Amino acid sequence: MKLIIINGPNLNLLGIREKDIYGNKSFESFFENLSFKFPDYKLEFFQSNIEGEIINKLHEVGFSYDGIILNAAAYTHTSLAIADAVKAINSPVIEVHISNIFSREKIRHTSLIAPYCKGSISGFGLKSYELAVKSFL
Ligand code: DQA
Repeated sequence: MKLIIINGPNLNLLGIREKDIYGNKSFESFFENLSFKFPDYKLEFFQSNIEGEIINKLHEVGFSYDGIILNAAAYTHTSLAIADAVKAINSPVIEVHISNIFSREKIRHTSLIAPYCKGSISGFGLKSYELAVKSFL
């Protein structure tokens, strides 16, 4: 089972950025632990602050990987191009958010990518990613 986590803009600052919302753990240390917990999965991780790089990665993996766990961060609410990429590929995509986007500002209540995802997980902290991995069990 080959899965990839794709993180969007500003998620490279996890552990530093708005700790009250996103916690104090870096994604790298969380990911190391996650990979250890699921030794039977081939788990990969990619992060970019650049919309086009996220789209290129979706195209690259989206016809061969068993699943994609996508936290498009702020692009979730704005990027028709990422939504089109999710729609265009074959691999199932699970949308993930660390915070509960529905309990935050109204602009975050809309996800342009959700309609093309297999499902969405929001609000469980970094555990949202683990729940997404488990959904492939
Ligand atoms: C986020 C929620 C988005 O609204 C925000 O722009 C992010 C992170 C989350 O994981 O909670 O950068 O996707």
